Amino acid sequence: MIILKEITALATYPVRHPVLRKGKPIETCSFDNDDNPTTKHFGLFDNEELKGVVSVFEKKNPVFNETKQFQIRGMAVLESAQGYGFGKILMLEAEKYCKTENEAIIWFNARENAVGFYENMGYTINGTSFDIAGIGTHYIMYKRL
Ligand SMILES: CC(C)(COP(=O)(O)OP(=O)(O)OC[C@H]1O[C@@H](n2cnc3c(N)ncnc32)[C@H](O)[C@@H]1OP(=O)(O)O)[C@@H](O)C(=O)NCCC(=O)NCCS
Repeated sequence: MIILKEITALATYPVRHPVLRKGKPIETCSFDNDDNPTTKHFGLFDNEELKGVVSVFEKKNPVFNETKQFQIRGMAVLESAQGYGFGKILMLEAEKYCKTENEAIIWFNARENAVGFYENMGYTINGTSFDIAGIGTHYIMYKRL
């Protein structure tokens, strides 16, 4: 049985760590403003086991004009659970949360390897690629809600 739940920032680490910060110190799983009251973290549980996580931050990117902007960070599904639709379910949950506001935009820095996943969900690349030190090539992607 698949369940989506709001979880704490700390509860995302068992997925953030092996998927997004593999081989790096556990402290690298902490993101700025993780514990801000406006930040939301969602976990996907399959038979009560956490398989995927996503986090939503209220954060403006100067390349967009919208007053209400949400940044998605920490989108990750355990390697053994990838390809079963869990990432899509998590992104839809994040969008549902953001859609409660009018004229919002969702944006994020997408890893090169995940661009196809986001395009599949209706996101568009903005501008050219850039490097995030120690992680790799990224693109800004967005969707207006
Ligand atoms: C990217 C990631 C979150 C996708 O989650 P997932 O559960 O494996 O993806 P899903 O099974 O929900 O896929 C949903 C759809 O996207 C497609 N898709 C998934 N990953 C894709 C990729 N890398 N490139 C292109 N399409 C992809 C699937 O084929 C599926 O298509 P469909 O709906 O037409 O059948 C996951 O693979 C992951 O955690 N990767 C490593 C960490 C990472 O890169 N995170 C993103 C950081 S920006």
